[in-house]
Amino acid sequence: MDSAKVLLEEQVPVINFALGKGDWIVREAHTYGGKVMATVVNARHAKRAQDYGCDAVIATGNEAAAHGESVTTFCLIPSLVDVLNIPVIAAGGIADGRGLAAAIALGADGVAMGTRIMTTKESPLHRNYKDLSREKNSTDTIYSRRIDGLWCRVLKTDAAEKMRRRGLNLPAAFFNAQDIAKTMHLSFIKLFIGVMLSGWKNAKQLAFLANAFKAFRLATEGGDLKEGVLPVGQCTGLIHDEPTVKELFDRMVHEAEVIEKRMENVFA
Ligand SMILES: Cc1cc2nc3c(=O)[nH]c(=O)nc-3n(C[C@H](O)[C@H](O)[C@H](O)COP(=O)(O)O)c2cc1C
Repeated sequence: MDSAKVLLEEQVPVINFALGKGDWIVREAHTYGGKVMATVVNARHAKRAQDYGCDAVIATGNEAAAHGESVTTFCLIPSLVDVLNIPVIAAGGIADGRGLAAAIALGADGVAMGTRIMTTKESPLHRNYKDLSREKNSTDTIYSRRIDGLWCRVLKTDAAEKMRRRGLNLPAAFFNAQDIAKTMHLSFIKLFIGVMLSGWKNAKQLAFLANAFKAFRLATEGGDLKEGVLPVGQCTGLIHDEPTVKELFDRMVHEAEVIEKRMENVFA
């Protein structure tokens, strides 16, 4: 919530939020002409986002890195396009011009990418994981609720398998929460009491997140191949190089144009 307030104070022109009630963000952003996009995983969330006044939704399919739900991009996009009046941006599994063309064919107005952008020259991801993501196949991911407490897709590594097997590690969460409190300049005692008073369900979720954030940071910043865990989508299997973002976008648009011509011939 505090991060959203900073975005609004700074009048950031486009805001993307997920996992929460964002009506107040939409209202405030619209006062200065900002646009707001909600990340959604099903039609219920998407319709609610539209009712809040969101300018677009980013629809995330199951194959995506991190928090896709059960429906894959191929079915999610047309199902949302059928019921929404606002633009739908497709996310999950898009890594090249074929994905871009397919998303547009499904009715999307644009695409969003995580896994593909992660392995570009400009991406700050640690070299170890850029190299690993290029080596891995589409089957080399894990989709589990035992990584950060939500359904989450990560790269299949020994550390990720260990997290899935073990589930919530409460003693580790206690120590990791102290690190988070320090980073955020919060009193750990106040944070701890606040979390405990919020009820077991919420406390458990926050404990999961404390451990997952530590593991994600070890991977993204430290390149730790033993203890690090990295959100990665199935399209990691489509990634074999490390272009600049410009090279990637130019190539994707060119590939999509070739596909468009091929489709014209197919349906001629
Ligand atoms: C390294 C990495 C970290 C991510 N972290 C988060 C996150 O903390 N929360 C979240 O909701 N999505 C996260 N995502 C998911 C993206 O926002 C996006 O939904 C997803 O990557 C799209 O699917 P794709 O990976 O197939 O392109 C992350 C993705 C990557 C690759």
